[in-house]
Amino acid sequence: MEKLLYIDSCIRREASRSRQAADYLMKKMEASGKYEIETLCLMDEPLHYLGGDFFLQRERLLAEGRRDHRRFDYAHQFARADVIVIAAPFWDLGFPALLKTYIENISVDGITFYADTEGCHGMSQGRQLIFVTTRGGYYENTPLEMGSLYMEALSVFFGIDQYKCFFAEGLDIEGSDQKMLMQNLFDQIDEFAADWT
Ligand SMILES: Cc1cc2nc3c(=O)[nH]c(=O)nc-3n(C[C@H](O)[C@H](O)[C@H](O)COP(=O)(O)O)c2cc1C
Repeated sequence: MEKLLYIDSCIRREASRSRQAADYLMKKMEASGKYEIETLCLMDEPLHYLGGDFFLQRERLLAEGRRDHRRFDYAHQFARADVIVIAAPFWDLGFPALLKTYIENISVDGITFYADTEGCHGMSQGRQLIFVTTRGGYYENTPLEMGSLYMEALSVFFGIDQYKCFFAEGLDIEGSDQKMLMQNLFDQIDEFAADWT
């Protein structure tokens, strides 16, 4: 079975439309019986951004080659997964700071990527990252959309070679048909699920 890590950073929890779409996807993945699923709800994790002593400790541990320290557990867990599903709303042209804090914690030289004289390289191949998001306005194919764009870049950075984004947008535009926009998102998931599962 492939290992699937589902990372939930939908701050509004049950009320979140991104979360509803991601849960819909996860039900399909689960029903396929192909995946061993682990769920990480970032809102319930004791995550810290890199700063002060927490930052210095990281530098020290890496200099000593101590990648088995428990603060790197998130990075090891991420590195072990064959498929990663990340759910997050579109906030401030990207995604919530909580998710960026998690990314700071998993971006560890020697676990999720490595650096040499030529630069940084991903640690793995043959993996997949799926990003599920919903946006208030319309941003597709504009330079303002930096949520999915960032996730795609992160995939390249970590050596994850398949990237897919499921999104609905325009949800908060006055007069928008939210139900129809969300249904389109569920339809997108249905369409691709057959291939994955
Ligand atoms: C703090 C915050 C920041 C947001 N920033 C944007 C934004 O930059 N552009 C936009 O179109 N919508 C923005 N929105 C609206 C959300 O993208 C939209 O409501 C989305 O569907 C929320 O997802 P959720 O239902 O999963 O929480 C923002 C909402 C919040 C609460």
